[in-house]
Amino acid sequence: MKKGFLGITLIIVAALILFGTYVYLYKIKGNDQEIIPDGKDITKEEYIYKEDLLVLGYNVNEINTIESKISDSDVKKYLLSEKYNNLIELLKSPYFKIEHIDRYESYYSKNKDYSFEDIVIYVEIGLDIEFYTNITEITNYDDYDAVVNKYYKLPDNFEAKDLVSIDSKYKKSSYNYRLRKVAAEALYKMIDAALEDNIKLWVVSAYRTESTQKSLFNNSKNSDGLEHALLYSAKPGHSEHQLGLAVDLNMASSKAHFENTKEYAWLKANSYKYGFIERYPKGKEFITGYGFEPWHYRYLGIDLATDVYTDGGTYEEYLVKHSK
Ligand code: DAL
Ligand code: ZN
Repeated sequence: MKKGFLGITLIIVAALILFGTYVYLYKIKGNDQEIIPDGKDITKEEYIYKEDLLVLGYNVNEINTIESKISDSDVKKYLLSEKYNNLIELLKSPYFKIEHIDRYESYYSKNKDYSFEDIVIYVEIGLDIEFYTNITEITNYDDYDAVVNKYYKLPDNFEAKDLVSIDSKYKKSSYNYRLRKVAAEALYKMIDAALEDNIKLWVVSAYRTESTQKSLFNNSKNSDGLEHALLYSAKPGHSEHQLGLAVDLNMASSKAHFENTKEYAWLKANSYKYGFIERYPKGKEFITGYGFEPWHYRYLGIDLATDVYTDGGTYEEYLVKHSK
């Protein structure tokens, strides 16, 4: 009789413990707000993530934000091993990618004066990774919007196609400058239009082969040192000149101060109308990786150049904001 009573008591206690666990797993309450609305069907596994987020130190509002913006599988994959102090702020950026959360936090810890939106944009550009490391070889080198920079390069021995020689009307030296046909035609229109405004523009550099770019980089390094060369010359395979879509106008030297001329003012205000962008602007050196080059214009076509100009930043920033 006594044994039977003890047995029933144990069964009741075990049932109560099981029921309690069930209730705990399905209805965790934080502060005075429920994380999960009553009656919503969720799996036990999902629920445990929310419990883990609470244990990590996120509050209920934060957990609701995380839940609304990140899938359960990504919460499980990226967010359960540590608390990310700036996750909620970073999540406000439309360009946020959960797989880069560690990189955002690490970049922010070294750049606390940047906004969280900029942190996301800069990491998406790759700026948390040293220039000329982690290089990707591009495959869309024939496209007018192809990107080469200190993270993206052309295949070895790449040569641009559709090159045409620049007409003597648009240059002062006898050098055979070349550009891709579409860029050359756009350039002629731009220089002709400038002339109507009494602005004289001429080509001082255009298409460069890989070996020309190599010589230019090495010459710059030998005459002005590696730091200067890295600021004003792309390494071979990394130059837009090698794409056949970039042109230097009038005076291609920081010492010449082309930025103080009316020709530069005209280009800054008008080049996009002909399909060209100022590619290495002042104040954006840390993004492009190059010093201010008021003489360097990149052909993108009128529509894209207009969009990049309107966006107001570098081509790199534009691509983060507008890539699908
Ligand atoms: N001066 C630019 C960065 C180039 O070498 O392509
Ligand atoms: Zn250039």
